[in-house]
Amino acid sequence: MPEIRSYGDEDFAGCTALWERCGLTCWYNDPDLDIARWRSSSNAEILVAEGEGQVVGTICCGHDGHRGWLYYVAVDPAHQGAGLGRRLVRRAEDWLAERGILKIQLIVRDSNRPVIGFYSAVGYAYTPHAILARWLDLPKAPPEGVALPPEVELAAGRDPRVRFTITYLEMTERPSLAPAHPPIKTKYALMLAEQPTVGFYRYLYNSVGGDWRWWYRRQMSDEDLGGILADDRVEVFVLYVDGAPAGYFELDRREEPTIDLAYFGLMPHCVGRGLGRYLLHSAIEQAWSYEPERLTVNTNTMDHPRALPLYQRMGFVPYRQEEQEIIDPQISGIIPA
Ligand SMILES: CC(C)(COP(=O)(O)OP(=O)(O)OC[C@H]1O[C@@H](n2cnc3c(N)ncnc32)[C@H](O)[C@@H]1OP(=O)(O)O)[C@@H](O)C(=O)NCCC(=O)NCCS
Repeated sequence: MPEIRSYGDEDFAGCTALWERCGLTCWYNDPDLDIARWRSSSNAEILVAEGEGQVVGTICCGHDGHRGWLYYVAVDPAHQGAGLGRRLVRRAEDWLAERGILKIQLIVRDSNRPVIGFYSAVGYAYTPHAILARWLDLPKAPPEGVALPPEVELAAGRDPRVRFTITYLEMTERPSLAPAHPPIKTKYALMLAEQPTVGFYRYLYNSVGGDWRWWYRRQMSDEDLGGILADDRVEVFVLYVDGAPAGYFELDRREEPTIDLAYFGLMPHCVGRGLGRYLLHSAIEQAWSYEPERLTVNTNTMDHPRALPLYQRMGFVPYRQEEQEIIDPQISGIIPA
């Protein structure tokens, strides 16, 4: 059985090779720096599991005076599933407990979610916290062509704000539009979702708006959003194609005699299939069936570039423009990066 002991100078190559094998290294972490800092701190310890002269497991633990933390929890693939991961965690816990630490935390990368099963098995529970990060100095230049996480983009000088222009449009009489239909042979249905659940609505909103930074309703609480959806004067019509949701539009009749086409769009897999004109035509017809005095809609420069010309072709006329600025919802985490 591998023996667990403190890290020694001779373990450097073995540890970094193990982290590489276990997929724990990444360009913005520098194991050299990490190890040097941990070793020079009395609040941190690196434990190594040695089997037949090789480093086959590691765990780095430490505390910041408040919480204990675990890093580089790794077991060589050839030794996984034999209880070594659990032993390493317990040893690190003992080390932290001896220093009066009451609670231990760790960060699991989104791409490594399956490992949460291991942590649950050894007694760790998921906690719903958002982790925010800021680089004071990047250890290395980012490699070319790699998608950078938002906190690295910020460190590289990116402005966190996005600016966009909202165009408000209206029509004050029912337009006479040529009939619009989905392409022949499309199996479709358009249905009013009566009191849709918040979960179903979020699925529609996030799927349709994902590429266009639709952020406003993502940051709403379930309670607030549920309150809007429960109002009979807010109507959500869902387009189904081949039996599955393909897009939706939402009519807001709370300010009648003005009706607002609050949301309208297709899911990414349905864009370009000749459905957009049909869906917008249906929204306009549905709205005018209530005989409002005015139908409004707005679109902004983050939306699909064809949205504004399509609204205009269907009879909407711009009457106001407004500049707005928000913190990029992908940086603030409202939209997952
Ligand atoms: C995570 C890791 C350290 C686990 O080491 P291990 O030696 O295989 O784990 P153990 O054998 O001690 O397993 C302990 C328990 O966790 C369970 N477990 C281990 N991996 C699991 C997984 N991916 N999903 C669900 N349960 C898991 C085991 O079944 C065992 O349960 P039991 O005691 O009820 O039988 C190892 O898989 C690893 O190094 N992975 C790659 C590196 C990594 O992702 N590290 C975490 C960074 S946050």
